[in-house]
Amino acid sequence: MEFAQQLKSNLDIVQVVGEYVRLKKTGSRYVAPCPFHIEKTPSFGVNATHQFYKCFGCGVGGDVIKFVMEMDGLTFWEACTQLAERYGIPLPKRMDAADEDTRRRAGMYEMHEIAHKLYRAGLASAAGAEARAYLSKRGVHAKLAEEFGLGLSDRGGQSLAKQLQQAGFGAQQLEASGLVLARNDGSGFFDRFRGRLMFPIHSETGKIIAFAGRALSDEDQPKYLNSSETGIYKKSHVLYNLHRAKKGMRQNDHSILVEGYMDVIGLYGAGVTEVVASCGTTLGPDQVRMMRRHSENIVVNFDPDPAGAAATERSIQKLVEEGMHIRVLTLPGEMDPDEFIQQRGVEAYRTLCGKSPRYFEWLSDRAREKFDVRSGEGRVEAFKFLLPAIQKLPDKLERAAVASDVASRLGVDKGLVLEQFRKLAVDRSLQPMRMPRVELPANEKVLLRCLLDSGEARTEVLPLIADKELGWQAETGRILTAMQALGSDFSFGQLEARLNEADRTLLTALVFADGAARGEDEVTLPAEHASAQALDCLRVMEGAGRETARALLKARIAAAEREGNVEEAMRLSMELEGVAGAGRRRRQAPQ
Ligand code: UTP
Ligand code: MN
Repeated sequence: MEFAQQLKSNLDIVQVVGEYVRLKKTGSRYVAPCPFHIEKTPSFGVNATHQFYKCFGCGVGGDVIKFVMEMDGLTFWEACTQLAERYGIPLPKRMDAADEDTRRRAGMYEMHEIAHKLYRAGLASAAGAEARAYLSKRGVHAKLAEEFGLGLSDRGGQSLAKQLQQAGFGAQQLEASGLVLARNDGSGFFDRFRGRLMFPIHSETGKIIAFAGRALSDEDQPKYLNSSETGIYKKSHVLYNLHRAKKGMRQNDHSILVEGYMDVIGLYGAGVTEVVASCGTTLGPDQVRMMRRHSENIVVNFDPDPAGAAATERSIQKLVEEGMHIRVLTLPGEMDPDEFIQQRGVEAYRTLCGKSPRYFEWLSDRAREKFDVRSGEGRVEAFKFLLPAIQKLPDKLERAAVASDVASRLGVDKGLVLEQFRKLAVDRSLQPMRMPRVELPANEKVLLRCLLDSGEARTEVLPLIADKELGWQAETGRILTAMQALGSDFSFGQLEARLNEADRTLLTALVFADGAARGEDEVTLPAEHASAQALDCLRVMEGAGRETARALLKARIAAAEREGNVEEAMRLSMELEGVAGAGRRRRQAPQ
């Protein structure tokens, strides 16, 4: 697709991926823990020269469009449009070029936009006076409500269904939207949300994918009603406010997890922007990973009520399993985050946040309250209560450290700790994934790398090696042949497409190989002098190739002489002259 090519040439994959993952630059490559699988040691890399990403741990890889498709669960067409919109690249307007799935989803987004507009108008209208007063009473001023796109759904239960139909959406699309419900008698549709305060829920990239509606009176149950799950809305894959919070999450290098919509809005409005909520679901692994991509540190600040405490525990188990560094913030006076920040202000909140105990300290304190730690038995009980959580830590060393720390807090014998650990000593820590080594002679590595990274080197050097058999490894030969077939029209993807799986892996590892990274393949990075460097390699190889050929010929001459085959010995001797002569001529060639 031509547009995709054009799009890619206008984008920088480092920038795009960098918005999803915290990339670290080491040498010429950018690395991070892989966003597609759990790992502690980064084996995910982004290559700026060839504009692709690759994980040597789980094997995923591709170009910028594929990355966005996989991260955001988008179709090819959606990924292209989204990138074009985000980076201001002009887009061909032809939706008919899109596939069926894309068109259906585009319809979904459009219905949500229509709903959003309607709800916001509702809040601004005369009928919205009561809702506006409610918001203002809770400290949500007009500007903040606007920023969060809050709205009000019409009591009548007709407006949205009518508007969607007027916009041309058919029964099937309405049914699938999650925003309206079919009447039992089959006579049409009515609005799912009626007379509720509306909170749009966004995807990580900022598209509205669902709504939550809060009841404005106590009789209205449930207190919160959400869109049903649809093709674009999976509860377990959404964190409320993530698209706004991710910037703050990176700046502060932590995220704050709260329970409710109002908590998010309250904290965010007060300047605590790194806040997200799981919104009534127990945190799932996808949600944890979405946060972890931006920071590994998290402060859990759930409501102090028993339901909140239970939710804290369930969610924290997931966080522990995924190797997050957790603190638990408990606010004084039974206050939820929103109440606290309204009453005590952002300074006080930040202070408490900074002082919040690490998860295992917090859990030890809870164990101390639960068991009578004055007796030896009680201490053992308390420790046993903590053990399952400790066992969930994916890293073996951390597990041992935490266990020993917890034991000393509770005053439990270290011997007991060790014994418990021997019983359950399964190491679930992840082995660091290293890049595969490039098993090629140094000269070949450098030659290939120069040719890969420099168009000039390809133009100047590729023709020179067009018809030479320099005795290189079969892989090198295959890669060179593929490069030659491509000529000047070079893209990494096209090159890969011409290679088998093993050669592709080798090529990728070669492109990532970097002298700056310790313990990995040392490949001198060709700077401006790629052509010269490639030529040097070639000369050395030619030299080595000649040496081998000469040694072989000499051996064959000796054998022929031994056998008394004078004719053959003569012929081979002349051949030997030729090999030496070619070397001399070549060395003189530059004049
Ligand atoms: P809360 O009852 O604490 O709500 O539920 P809240 O967001 O703090 O709202 P206010 O302050 O009472 O106005 C916490 C979260 O649990 C989910 C919602 O995501 C809510 O934000 N919840 C709660 C539901 O999904 N359904 C409900 O009926 C109640
Ligand atoms: Mn609340």
